[in-house]
Parts: sequence; structure tokens; C-alpha cells
Amino acid sequence: MSEKKVRLQIRHLKKMFSAHEGVEDISFDVYDHELLTLLGPSGCGKTTILRCIGGFHALDAGQILLDGKDISGLPPEQRPTNMVFQGYNLWPHMSVMGNMEFALKLKKVPEEERKRRIHQMLELVHMDGMEKKYPSQLSGGQQQRVAIARALVQQPSVLLMDEPFSALDAKIRASMRDELRRIQQETELTIIFVTHDQEEAMAISDRIAVIHQGVIQQIDTPAEIYNHPKSMFVASFIGDMNFIPENGKYRAVRPEDMILKQNGSQGEILSVMMLGHYARIRFRDNATGQEYKAFLPKENSQAYRTGMRIDYTYEHFVELNQETQA
Ligand SMILES: Nc1ncnc2c1ncn2[C@@H]1O[C@H](COP(=O)(O)OP(=O)(O)O)[C@@H](O)[C@H]1O
Ligand SMILES: [Mg+2]
Repeated sequence: MSEKKVRLQIRHLKKMFSAHEGVEDISFDVYDHELLTLLGPSGCGKTTILRCIGGFHALDAGQILLDGKDISGLPPEQRPTNMVFQGYNLWPHMSVMGNMEFALKLKKVPEEERKRRIHQMLELVHMDGMEKKYPSQLSGGQQQRVAIARALVQQPSVLLMDEPFSALDAKIRASMRDELRRIQQETELTIIFVTHDQEEAMAISDRIAVIHQGVIQQIDTPAEIYNHPKSMFVASFIGDMNFIPENGKYRAVRPEDMILKQNGSQGEILSVMMLGHYARIRFRDNATGQEYKAFLPKENSQAYRTGMRIDYTYEHFVELNQETQA
């Protein structure tokens, strides 16, 4: 990880649909073999950025450089990128083999090599032996795995994935994350992954770009984003956070960093909820009326009851300015 090679450079990318819709000035780098996630709420511009990189939108301004070469004028099929979309975008009238073969045939890859590559990719996503099945005979998770294999078999330089697991139920989604991570590490693929799900982003990414209203707020490792958020938006969008007013600024404190003391006077417990291995405790600061949350390990939470008076403190906090931006 010492010397990181830049694979893709996005420079001042602009794509506006109307005065306030789109992205105005997006710049970031993607490293070789990295899984970079674009994370943000619906409508913040994630798909727009991805489609610009894939060549499905013409840019209003800016550049996209791959290995130093400007690819922003190329049509999608001439770009060394491949995109996996939100739904299962397999062709329903073609078998798994037909779906896998289509683009390779267009590229005139010889039959023997075609079969070898397809077999290898289906094995990688644990779908070997399913060549003759049609999409309607596969589960959602299986279809999405074929869609990933179909993108990979074309040996893209960068794989673009737009909320690829959003149509799957929670359990399969979690196992697909692990699968994707494994595949990415085995193939040393460079991936730009889009999601609005902060938990998914935290679980699979090497780095996360947090986007709000068309602007990248922070781009960092999951741990940095979690422990050192640089804005109120990032702090509140990822995980749970308390905001404690202090001298015209805010101290952002994670609920698990709250320390409670029984028989105090600062606050009062509003509720205690057992959530398996930890308890979620809501309390109110008596002086300000502000409500906060604390997560305590199960064994430390037994003593606390609704209505109990407590003191509270915290070990770790991040100081943030109140944002003027809406
Ligand atoms: N083809 C389009 N025509 C007009 N407006 C669009 C188009 N695509 C996206 N937008 C607008 O651009 C903004 C960003 O959309 P999008 O990139 O799809 O966000 P996300 O993928 O983060 O949900 C939204 O306000 C959306 O309504
Ligand atoms: Mg989208």
C-alpha cells in the first residue's frame, strides 16, 4: 500500500441538468486496485458522476483521465470501463451463457478463449454450472452475480457499480458485499461503487467520498470518516452522533463514547432499550434540555433505569462549526 498509483483522475467534472440539479465541480482520484465508494443521499449526484465516467453523459466541462489519458470524448463501448446497474440488467431472453458471451462475440474474441474466460468468471462468482439457465430461473442474488461476472469477463480497467445490491434483501446484500470484496481482492480490480447506504459503504470500501448536494464533503478511509468527520453533514450521515453545543461550535460525540455516571445531577434518563449485546440509552441534559444518546455494553447497562439522574462525560469528540449551507 506504500506507493499508490493513480488509475483514474476526475478533474472539475461538471454536468448540470438545470440550475440546481446535477454536479458542478467534482474532482477526485481513484487509485489502482482500490474500491472507492461514492456515498450520499438520493439525488446528491452519485449516478450522474458514474454515468459521466462510463460515457453515458457528455460532460459540460472537466476531464476524465485514465492512466493519464483523457477519455472524456470516448463513447461508452470504447472506454475501458464497465458498468453494473441498479436492477438486474441481464437480458431476459438469453441464457446465462448468452448474456456472458454477447459482448465478447462483438469484440470477436475467439470461441475457445471466450469459453475459458466465461467459465473462469462464473467460477469466481460461484455460478459455474448455471450456463444454460435463464434469468427468470435465478434468484435476485444469482442474477446480480451473473451481472457482475458479465461485466468482469470483459476485463474492464475500472468497474463502475451503481447501487448494485439495492434490490436484494438485507441478508443476501450482506453476503454479496463479502463476495464483492473477495472478488475484488482476487482480481485486483479497481472499482467505483455507488450507494446511499452508509453501512454498506463502511463495510466494503478502501475509501469513501461523501457527497452532499453535488459536492464532495470528504474523501477518506472508512475509519477516518467515522472518527474524524470534517463537517456536520458527514458527522450526521455516517453512524449515530450527538451534537453538543459549546461556545458557538458543536462537539460531535459518538454514542459509544458517552460515559454515564449514576447518582448525578447533570441529566436524566429518558429511556433504556436493550438491543442484544448493547443498550441504547436516551437522556436529557437538565441545563440545556438537549437530548443525547449513549450506547453501553450490556453488562454496564443493567443499573440504568428511566427517570434516573446521571452525570455524563466523553473521551473523544470532534469539534465542528455549524454549517451555514442549507
Ligand atoms: N437525466 C436527467 N435529467 C434531468 N435531471 C436529472 C437527470 N439525472 C439526474 N438528474 C437530477 O440530478 C440530480 C442528481 O441525480 P442523481 O445523480 O441521479 O443522484 P443520485 O444517484 O445520487 O440519487 C437530481 O436532482 C436529479 O433529479
Ligand atoms: Mg442514483
